[in-house]
Amino acid sequence: MRIAVLTVSDRCSKGLTEDKSGPLISELLKELAETAAYRIVPDEKEEISAALIEFCDALGVDFVFTTGGTGFAPRDVTPEATRAVIEKEVPGIPEAIRAESLKITPKAMLSRAAAGIRGRTLIVNLPGSPKAVRESLAVVLPVLDHAVETMSGQTISCGKE
Ligand code: MTE
Repeated sequence: MRIAVLTVSDRCSKGLTEDKSGPLISELLKELAETAAYRIVPDEKEEISAALIEFCDALGVDFVFTTGGTGFAPRDVTPEATRAVIEKEVPGIPEAIRAESLKITPKAMLSRAAAGIRGRTLIVNLPGSPKAVRESLAVVLPVLDHAVETMSGQTISCGKE
């Protein structure tokens, strides 16, 4: 599998804070996936959307994981930038992440993260902290293989064993 990682953060994009969450995504998925691209952008809707389009259309990665910008802060626009470029929304993924994360912290309900498909790429928003990245990725990890299969049209039968 091939992934791209997009860190959305004003502070990281200016070099004021080191990005720990983006590299952590690649690290946590390294047994499963090669990271084809990694970029940091500020909390600007157009810049986020442009990076997502490039990762999906030009690189054709299986997944784009974003981290950050999913909360209530005035500049948090990652879900809006994601919805602007996806063709099909996948509500089950953020629903599952929030449901599992709520068992760990009530603050999980403060993430507005979205997920959806553009072409043959699944874009998944993750919250910004390394802790939240770890907890959220653990939820989606078991379904990534099957997500790739179904997006590519390879799956003939589903859930029949
Ligand atoms: N989800 C998990 N699993 N663990 C967390 O610690 N933090 C929450 C939430 N989701 C958290 C979580 C907090 S404190 C916020 S403000 C929101 O994600 C939004 O984070 P973001 O704005 O960095 O994307």
